[in-house]
Amino acid sequence: MNKESIAYFDQVAADYFQRYYENSPGGYALRVRQEKVLELLDKPAGRLLDVGCGPGVMVPKLINLGFEFWGIDASPRMIEQCHKAFGKVNCAHFTVGNATALAFADEFFDVIICMGVIDRIKDYETAIQEMSRVLKPGGTLLITFTNLLSPHAAWRNFVFYPMMACLRPLYYGLIRRPQPPALVSLARLYTQNAATRLVTKYCGRVTDVVYFYINLFLSPLDELFPQCAVWTAERLEPLCSGKLKWLGASFIVKAKKGSHFNATS
Ligand SMILES: C[S@@+](CC[C@H](N)C(=O)[O-])C[C@H]1O[C@@H](n2cnc3c(N)ncnc32)[C@H](O)[C@@H]1O
Repeated sequence: MNKESIAYFDQVAADYFQRYYENSPGGYALRVRQEKVLELLDKPAGRLLDVGCGPGVMVPKLINLGFEFWGIDASPRMIEQCHKAFGKVNCAHFTVGNATALAFADEFFDVIICMGVIDRIKDYETAIQEMSRVLKPGGTLLITFTNLLSPHAAWRNFVFYPMMACLRPLYYGLIRRPQPPALVSLARLYTQNAATRLVTKYCGRVTDVVYFYINLFLSPLDELFPQCAVWTAERLEPLCSGKLKWLGASFIVKAKKGSHFNATS
């Protein structure tokens, strides 16, 4: 992760957990993502690694399910938040680290999850290769991707965010304040086929792809009318398992590590 992105995540670390409880489209998207990832976990317990764990949002639920939890994150402030909240929990371990160079032994984990992270890792292929390396054969990998075909995600990434990035210097110039760190680079969006190919190439057989979060309010309308956007998204969620699933802003790819992906391949 580049310096600007680390500065951004360091800056939002203390408030990030709170986003999960907001009655906003962003809060709804985080909650539904968490719920769907938990539904896809079929290993009853074992060692689980959360790559880009943020402030440890998954820790309580996963510990309750019986997992021993490891979390790594490139942002030191995020890891500080993890230690603050869960430092006394014996079966939870946290370290600052990079997804592209995981400091764990080969085939150490039963399950690896990576939520809201891969779209912004420049060397994403190395990151997936690393996750596969530290996963046991037969282990489960769950990665969330942002959907290139979703009108909401594409508009936000390719039009709304770049527009806001141009207006930022003007805005902070007008109010005479220094610009706080922001995510400047574009995220990489994926089609289901592209994401599936990638995961199959480095890890093994894809067993499930689950879409979530249909938001018909293009930004900034969703931010201007957050409750209408959440109300609609809740009602449209069932469409994510039918023919219109491609409207979902994101999807989760679940794979089983093949036995032919040994530590040195
Ligand atoms: C959008 S947050 C997601 C946090 C959490 N996974 C969740 O689901 O709420 C992305 C997190 O990934 C971390 N991150 C981004 N790039 C990373 C990398 N290359 N290695 C490790 N962590 C990274 C950021 O510091 C940030 O905490």
